[in-house]
This record gives sequence, C-alpha cells and structure tokens, in this order.
Amino acid sequence: MKILNAVLGATALAAVSLVSTIAQAAGYPERQITMVVPFAAGGPTDTVARLVAESMSKTLGQQIVVENVGGAGGTLGAARVANADADGYTVLLHHIGMATSDTLYRKLPYETLNAFEYVGLVTEVPMTLLARKDMEANDLAGLIEYAKANKDKVTVANAGIGAASHLCGMLFMSAIETPLVTVPYKGTGPAMTDLLGGQVDIMCDQTTNTTKQIQGGTVKAYAVTSPERLEILKDLPTVKEAGLPQMEVGIWHGVYAPKGTPKEAVDKLSEALKVALKDNNVSTRFAELGTAPSPESDATPEALKAKLESEIARWKPVIEAAGQYAD
Ligand code: MLT
Repeated sequence: MKILNAVLGATALAAVSLVSTIAQAAGYPERQITMVVPFAAGGPTDTVARLVAESMSKTLGQQIVVENVGGAGGTLGAARVANADADGYTVLLHHIGMATSDTLYRKLPYETLNAFEYVGLVTEVPMTLLARKDMEANDLAGLIEYAKANKDKVTVANAGIGAASHLCGMLFMSAIETPLVTVPYKGTGPAMTDLLGGQVDIMCDQTTNTTKQIQGGTVKAYAVTSPERLEILKDLPTVKEAGLPQMEVGIWHGVYAPKGTPKEAVDKLSEALKVALKDNNVSTRFAELGTAPSPESDATPEALKAKLESEIARWKPVIEAAGQYAD
C-alpha cells in the first residue's frame, strides 16, 4: 500500500509541476527577458542583437534586455545561458562560434548539441579583411607580402578563440601559410578601437562592425568574404577575386534558449523572431551594414538545429588542419 501511495504521490507531483509549467508558459512572457550577447558591447554581435531584441520586444509585449557576457571567444556567454533557468526568460544570440567552439574547446562548460533549445536563425554576415589606416600594403597581395616579411611582429586582433574574427584570422593565416601574432579582445568593438588607433595591425571582422569605418576611410580594407561584392562596398573585391577563395565564409547568427525551456515559450520566441526579420527597421539597418535578415523559413528551431549540426561537421576538419585549439 505504501508503494502505491508513493507512486500516486509522485505522479500527482509531476502532474502539478507539468500543469504549472504549462500555465506559466501560457501567460508567457509575464516579465522582461534577458538576451545574452557573448561578446562586449559595441561589436557586431551586439549590434545584431539590439536590433532584433528591440523588434521582438514589441511583439512579445515585454522588454528584452541585452546583457553582454564576453570572454573565451563567446563560450562564457553561451555557458551563462546553458546554465540559466529554462523558463524562457534567458536567451542567447550567438553566431558561427557556437559551431567552431565545439571543436576548438576540448573542455567546453556545456554540451553544444544538448544544452540548448533552438529558436531560429537571424542573419548571415560577411567578413572584411582590414588593416590599420597607415598599413603599407594597398592590396591583398601586398598585405600578404608584408605579413610574411614581418610575421614575428604583425598583430591580428580577434574576439578570442571561437570568435568569428578568430575563425577568419585563422583562415587567413592558413591560406598564406604564415602564423602571425594574435591579440584577443572581449569583442571586436574594443578591438576596432585599437585598430583605429594603430595599436594592432590587422583584423577580419563582420560588416556589421566595419562598414562605417571602411566607408569613412579610417581603416584599410582588402577583401570581403562573401561570394559576390556587396552593394554598399562595391569597390571591395571578394576574397575569391583577390586569390584566397578558401577564406569565403558567412557568419550566421541564431537565437537559443536553455534546454528544457517550455515549447510554448520557444514557439512564442520563434514567432517574434519571424516578425523581427520582416521588420522594416531591422531589414533597412541590416542592409546598411552589409547583411540581410534570414528568410522566414530559417527563423525556426529546425533550421537552426540543422545549421548548427552541419557547421560543426564543416569546420571540424578545417580547425584540426590548422591545429589551433583553445585548451
Ligand atoms: C566575433 O566573433 O568576432 C564577434 O562577433 C565579435 C563581437 O561581436 O564583438
């Protein structure tokens, strides 16, 4: 009889917990949501997040507050969300680094494919290969020659191992078969400050952080990593035109929630993301920054899950060939 009571008791408890979860999700969201950006404020990921969060807030009827958690190439911010309460009030906006970190870090503080619920894809941003304004080289061939001749002193800025800027810098060094001195920052916002000040020589960063600088002539730009030239940077050759097709890469971004977040909450976040990607303010601002919203069909959990799985598989051999690991 005692066993039966125990089983009935446990079943009743589970039922109460399930009902309260569904009830909570049914009224979701009832308070502000935190969107973690795993890089410093003022960088490309932060820019994308704030634009999307502003629009999603309107649809959800609750403020989405962006929290910058930089460090370790984005993995500290990802870990912050992996370990957050799975109640729909903490989400992560991250990019290709979610895939590359899975190979780069042999001791990640979370299991990439098991720690998150997927909300949807956001945008895919091209990268631009830049140097400080007074860099001697005026084209990519000249930059490669300069880098090879000065490999022990040329510095390349990135946002830490696992960042998109780290990946692009790694592709550049692999392509020219020359290791250079890398300088990590908590984000390419602060890294850009040093590039503009001439404290660092080279950086490969997303157009969401570099378009204004390139248009303003405050940096030297050598190539863009998209398959075709960009409308807003027509004079900038592609890496393929400049002779480094292996540097072609697009920085896709996605929104995640902690594993176990109620499906009703994930669905409402995904619906709000779809609305944001059709928001004129978002698409206009993205266009000015050299990118575009992902198609609505990609703003789904299934699309983001498939992208992450395929990108882990794609970058694993490239990272292993470069022999660059975080630990
Ligand atoms: C990176 O991966 O390089 C990040 O996008 C940098 C940033 O957002 O600050």
